[in-house]
Amino acid sequence: MSDETPIRPKRRPRYSGRNPRRFEDKYKEHDPERYAETVEKVLASGKTPAGTHRPIMVREILEILAPKPGDVAVDCTLGFAGHAREILSRIIPGGRLLGLDVDPLELPKTEARLRALGFGQDVCTVHQSNCAGLSKTLAAEGIPGADMVLADLGVSSMQLDDPKRGFSVKNEGPLDMRMNPERGQSASAYLARVRPDILERALIENSDEPNAKALAAVLAGQTFATTTGLTNAIRSALAGVNRDECELSVRRVFQALRIAVNDEFSALETFLRYLPACLKPGGRVAILTFHSGEDRRVKKSFESALSEGLYASISPEVIRPSPEERRANLRSTPAKLRWAVATS
Ligand SMILES: C[S@@+](CC[C@H](N)C(=O)[O-])C[C@H]1O[C@@H](n2cnc3c(N)ncnc32)[C@H](O)[C@@H]1O
Repeated sequence: MSDETPIRPKRRPRYSGRNPRRFEDKYKEHDPERYAETVEKVLASGKTPAGTHRPIMVREILEILAPKPGDVAVDCTLGFAGHAREILSRIIPGGRLLGLDVDPLELPKTEARLRALGFGQDVCTVHQSNCAGLSKTLAAEGIPGADMVLADLGVSSMQLDDPKRGFSVKNEGPLDMRMNPERGQSASAYLARVRPDILERALIENSDEPNAKALAAVLAGQTFATTTGLTNAIRSALAGVNRDECELSVRRVFQALRIAVNDEFSALETFLRYLPACLKPGGRVAILTFHSGEDRRVKKSFESALSEGLYASISPEVIRPSPEERRANLRSTPAKLRWAVATS
């Protein structure tokens, strides 16, 4: 190419219709500083701008955790750091927040965002770690106990909306579903190897799937390279089932596979077991869950730690997002919040 070749400006992505539908094409949402108006419109419609996450029940969580200057806080599921930012601004000066997350792809972006907001290493450290290893992370940092612990379980919107991560029912991508793609097996590899009886149990235990037996018989041992391949196989296995029910089954199978691939229930159980010992006397914990399998485990663990005297009090019932929040953020709808206070 000669030096005279004119340099053409890069063309913006083409898409049909008025608005981009694919995650990669939502260039305005990916650049909120330049396109604040577009981002405002997305937020006003109750949706989540691409590449971000909207923190849920922030007011309620801050009331429970009651952060104050000098406190030590742990956010066990840092995500986009929506909750962490709010906690951080209340524990300075003198306080410290440890942010844990298993996701090696999003964690550096979140850390960069926190640093850009002015939260340095002295007040905030990030750790690529499973919440099941909370006590080890605290010990490695020389912290005997935390004043508050937050866990906001499941996947972030960044993970869910990025087709490359393979979590999404809506967008085609590789059938992966690992929160940490550097470890374990993808959902595709899991399905190719799993026995039908094991898959049936996972579909029942992880998402109460009523068609578990029929689906397990068809899906176990099959190789699906993409999310769409799996969705189509579920739809044809349930050809006789009404359409809405069938779409619910698609979502439940995706949820059950995600839980299996990331071993989410054993991580949650280990975290809950060690949690009372990770809190200072009087320390507070808040846990946000998104389906019955998670909430059941949190409720049971809080009740038994209360009866053992490890907690002084626990939430008498589950707290749900307000109707305003559910309208403003559609993804908040299934959220359930529970809290506990360690014995003084
Ligand atoms: C719902 S998002 C948290 C969003 C965050 N509260 C915010 O305001 O941005 C859940 C995050 O937890 C992480 N995660 C899920 N299970 C985890 C576990 N067992 N240990 C550590 N991180 C986990 C996911 O990778 C994801 O980033």
